[in-house]
Amino acid sequence: MRLDKVIEQNLQTTRKEMKRLFLMKKVFVDGRVELNPQRNVDSRLHKIIVSGQELTTNHVYYLLNKPAGVVTAKKDSNFQTATELIAKAERPLELYPVGRLDRDTTGLLLLTDNGQLGYDLLQPHSKVEKTYRAVVNEQVTLADVAAFASGIVFHGGVRCQPAQLNILSAEAGHSEVLLTIKEGKFHQVKKMFLARGKKVTSLTRLTMGPLELPQELAEGEYRPLTLAELQQLKTYFR
Ligand code: URA
Repeated sequence: MRLDKVIEQNLQTTRKEMKRLFLMKKVFVDGRVELNPQRNVDSRLHKIIVSGQELTTNHVYYLLNKPAGVVTAKKDSNFQTATELIAKAERPLELYPVGRLDRDTTGLLLLTDNGQLGYDLLQPHSKVEKTYRAVVNEQVTLADVAAFASGIVFHGGVRCQPAQLNILSAEAGHSEVLLTIKEGKFHQVKKMFLARGKKVTSLTRLTMGPLELPQELAEGEYRPLTLAELQQLKTYFR
């Protein structure tokens, strides 16, 4: 949450008082004077002291193993949404999925009510790596690996950044691969393979930045981030 919102929520300050707190250098984050009211903080990661008083936030962060058939949205008139898979009692109004998986894609999805963190994780300059396991309807070759490494160009001319393709198994009519990309274009993985004349028949996201799909989570299940996982996201709090 933005630091000014945390202060407003905890101390019920007026705008004028808020300005004064920053001007008078009364706001400390992790022991240092903080002058940026828009800085994103979470009291589980940052020690927030204002006029000698420690302030707290209460954000939630969930890892969901998204099942197929569910759309990555808050609300949808036709399909169940990823947000609705979180129990009502654990679902703040502002909860939303960070990034988007297609309806038929399964795997790791982060949901949070920390809108600023979600936004920052999705910024192209953040270059958050995402790894997918894909099943492809053709034999994936070393020529494909080289093409992904030098930057796939979609039908239509859009160029992707270099991506790392690892072949797990490859036979005529069926291959399994791991693909790591650093951007998030619409239907990116499917379109990258289409540019090579191949079709993705099954797609699962395994990682996003430092987060990994927990082995113990069956499709449709979720759990809160552990403190260790949240700490790994600290570099994305700006
Ligand atoms: N790329 C895709 O094509 N689909 C997804 O759901 C995610 C990445």
